[in-house]
Amino acid sequence: MSDLGDFTDFDPDDEGDPPTDGGQETTTGTSDGASDGAVDDSTDAGQDTEAPTDTAADPETTATTAASGPQEGSDGFEAVEVSPAGVDSGLGVVSATEGLRISEDSQETELRAYVTVENRSAVRIGKYLLVPYPDGERLFCRITALEYAQEFRADDATEIHARRAMRQDGIDEQDFKFVATLEPVAVLYSEGGELKRRMTDRVPKPETAVREATDTGEIKTGLKIPAEGVFLGHLAVGGETVRTAAEPPTIDYRLKDDYADGDPLVFRHTLVAGGTGSGKTHTAKNVLRQYLADGRTYPVADENREASPCLVMFDPQDEYAQLHDDNPDIDDAFARRLEREGVAYGGVEDTVAFVPEVAGASYAASDHRAEQVAFTVPFSMVHDNPWLIAGSSLNGNQYNALKHLLGRFRRQHGGDATYRQFTSFLDDPALREELDETGRVHEATFNAVKRRALGFDGIFDQDARPITDLVHEFVRAGGVSVVPTYHINNSRSTATVVLALAALLVDQKLSNDPDYPRIEETPLVLGLDEAHNFLAEADSVQGERIIGKFTEAAKQGRKERLGLFLVTQDPQDIAEPVFKQVNTTVVLNLGDEDAISAVNIPPSLEQKVPYMEKGQMVVYSPDNSEPVELVGLPECLTDHE
Ligand SMILES: Nc1ncnc2c1ncn2[C@@H]1O[C@H](COP(=O)(O)OP(=O)(O)OP(=O)(O)O)[C@@H](O)[C@H]1O
Ligand SMILES: [Mg+2]
Repeated sequence: MSDLGDFTDFDPDDEGDPPTDGGQETTTGTSDGASDGAVDDSTDAGQDTEAPTDTAADPETTATTAASGPQEGSDGFEAVEVSPAGVDSGLGVVSATEGLRISEDSQETELRAYVTVENRSAVRIGKYLLVPYPDGERLFCRITALEYAQEFRADDATEIHARRAMRQDGIDEQDFKFVATLEPVAVLYSEGGELKRRMTDRVPKPETAVREATDTGEIKTGLKIPAEGVFLGHLAVGGETVRTAAEPPTIDYRLKDDYADGDPLVFRHTLVAGGTGSGKTHTAKNVLRQYLADGRTYPVADENREASPCLVMFDPQDEYAQLHDDNPDIDDAFARRLEREGVAYGGVEDTVAFVPEVAGASYAASDHRAEQVAFTVPFSMVHDNPWLIAGSSLNGNQYNALKHLLGRFRRQHGGDATYRQFTSFLDDPALREELDETGRVHEATFNAVKRRALGFDGIFDQDARPITDLVHEFVRAGGVSVVPTYHINNSRSTATVVLALAALLVDQKLSNDPDYPRIEETPLVLGLDEAHNFLAEADSVQGERIIGKFTEAAKQGRKERLGLFLVTQDPQDIAEPVFKQVNTTVVLNLGDEDAISAVNIPPSLEQKVPYMEKGQMVVYSPDNSEPVELVGLPECLTDHE
């Protein structure tokens, strides 16, 4: 660099700023304006001179020049000067021609790099680059735009130009400037031997060589990716994993999972959104599998110990009980790779399918070997959550009447009385009359409530153990409890079962005086596939209660160790208050515009979403890292069919 630097410093003065852009293309002293051939070669050589920065690429350029450029000799020293200095290869240099400014206001930031000819075909929007400062600090940035601009003032929109161009293979790159617009991400600096980042607070010098970031440490620091945590995938740009010289050459993206700096992100909630068949379940299983890794534990409230989390997964397609089984497609080589990278894989032995017993629905386990335990929802659970039988159309007045009726029923028949008893209780004309006469519940209201409440036959108190008797089996540290609902082909029954169980978990988790301390003391990940079916904004008492409960769960979950893990193809349908509590959003391919804008990710990620192939995802987790694009693992870490 130094030897060439001499020439760079020296040339402009020396040549007295020869024709056009002589300053930069020093060698063009040979008169640019001349014949085509001459221009080609001289500019080509010019690149070489400028290449103090590009040493690695230089020999190549030189070779090309030599091969195609009979005039090379006319440039004199260039060919010789260029080869030595063994510095990093670069893509080009920072250009101040159209402004060079780092500003507090990102709108006013102007940072561009001139990209040298041989690098042009390789640069891509999204790539990560480094621009060094003279004192060793580096500006870490991303390419946000690429453009060709004219090098020489010539009109290429003319007949003669077009005809000539059509006869040629490609263009004369030297006739154009190729400029990359860069977005500064962070300044990297070393302190006490450790690489750190800070906000972009200084401007790089013009003509500084710009190189691609290829060092794992620099990239991870630049993007603020935690070194430890839950593995989500490998860093990528445009669907290609970012490669480094290290082994492995890929960069693992992890989600913070300790208390060093706020609460683990699992308890600050995750959303996986993607269109049909985009790989949501595959991705969800791979992430969830990491939470079930040996040794992953979280402190237990008020106790001096740590516990593994329990995953409770509501499973509309009967896919998650396969978490129990190994994926037969994972071969030894892939397994070694996973081990090297600290990625947990293989079936989780302690996976149990809790099968809701619902009249008219029988469960035939599809392709999994997990144990099955049948359960029923006891009507007694409705006392804590009357909205479970409110249906979706009771108004406030009617809901109060329902609560009144339930209270009275409980006093008369006890807390364990059944749904059938409740229906005969409502069937009593004397009761209706009395309530009407005393002005407690108007007759019409009574009838409306009764109509609603009678539609739950076959759901409560079926022939299986009540879930409330099974809490110790259902919630197990380190275990997976899957609740398949595919066999229930009635959406109201499904919603009632799912919401009853979710409410039980949430209520107990958040209660100061829980009936089931087991729930309270076990770190819990509550997974909901097709979450839009349960958490849609609804204009009814029931809808309000559900959303209220989940919002509360999400807000308090942080400190109570309750993480929501929502999977959906219709993120736009998930109620805003719940949505707002989600810290980590993983987005797979989404085609629907409303869905894309609903996930609320930065525009740079948003525009990639419709083009992503299976396995590609973008992750927006502002408390974890800069927004990134990843490629997920091609194999599911447990069975997935
Ligand atoms: N990263 C990936 N690499 C290779 N194959 C994948 C990847 N992700 C998913 N697949 C495969 O694509 C298919 C669909 O994936 P998956 O079931 O996860 O999609 P989904 O979004 O959950 O679909 P649905 O909308 O039906 O629920 C599966 O066969 C899965 O194995
Ligand atoms: Mg799925």
